[in-house]
Amino acid sequence: MPYVNTKEILDKANKEYFAVPAFNINNIEFFHAIVDGAMEESAPLIIETSEGAIKYAGNGDPFRGAEFFVNLVRGYAETVPIPIALHLDHGKNYQFIIAAIKAGYSSVMIDASEHPFEQNVQETKEIVKIAHAAGVSVEAELGRLKGVEDNVSVDERDAILVNPDEAGKFVELTEVDFLAPAIGTSHGAFKFKGEAKLDFGRLKRVKELTGIPLVLHGASSVPEELVELANNYGARITGAKGVPPEVLQEAVRYGVNKVNTDTDLRIAFLAGLRKSLHDKPEEFDPRKYFKLAKEHVTRVVRERLKLLGASGKA
Ligand code: G3H
Ligand code: 13P
Ligand code: ZN
Repeated sequence: MPYVNTKEILDKANKEYFAVPAFNINNIEFFHAIVDGAMEESAPLIIETSEGAIKYAGNGDPFRGAEFFVNLVRGYAETVPIPIALHLDHGKNYQFIIAAIKAGYSSVMIDASEHPFEQNVQETKEIVKIAHAAGVSVEAELGRLKGVEDNVSVDERDAILVNPDEAGKFVELTEVDFLAPAIGTSHGAFKFKGEAKLDFGRLKRVKELTGIPLVLHGASSVPEELVELANNYGARITGAKGVPPEVLQEAVRYGVNKVNTDTDLRIAFLAGLRKSLHDKPEEFDPRKYFKLAKEHVTRVVRERLKLLGASGKA
């Protein structure tokens, strides 16, 4: 199947009320493991790379890094029976966003969410103009990716989370294709101190006012059994907490169509790798000691695709 525009995948998800996980990669091992999972589930696939991943792959050069990922993902997409898109995650530097567009990414994120509303609108508008002219779709973000504790004031809450009225205006002014509204999630393995709480009232309102595919960042579930396995083999990850699977399903019901996932894959890979290295200290062939790590990643990918309703939607 072809390499596709992310918009094609997400417009279908929006119309049919399901979500597609977007998986972050930095290297070929994760890519293979993710594609295996998506193929086994006959699911559409969104691969995403951060600016850090592009720097890593290009040894510091954004153009080299972006081209590496396009060649890898676009070339491979032609050989497999599922649609695959490649997305730039959290584009903050103009140079990286332009490198991704020029290299042939399917979509880019312009993340100007730390700036005041007007500046976010201006920067997003400028990228939308350039990207759309090249047939590339665009994601933007409103609000801050930060957990919100129960005891914060209404003002603090408003400063962190998306303002739905602004979201409606933002989409109209920028003509962005997908929007990531901050509703209480954060990146990494330590998202909540107590219970996982997302602001579904805001999410619902953002969907009503925009109608476009919405994106949930910081959406890893941080499965306890994987953290435990990694810790049993020498990792030291304590107090980790993610977004429970049933909470993700609720987010999908309120209109989320893209679910960003990086941390779960990192922990899955780490758990498998640590076990392999522990069990066979004599092994030095990476294809062998990466095997279990990749299998854990594939399993997480399959579970997410099923959970979010993307299985069978290729
Ligand atoms: O949004 C964050 C992703 O997990 C990528 O993280 O900047 O460490 O590659 P990174
Ligand atoms: P996690 O850290 O929860 O996997 O979130 C990843 C993400 O949002 C990438 O943009
Ligand atoms: Zn993110």
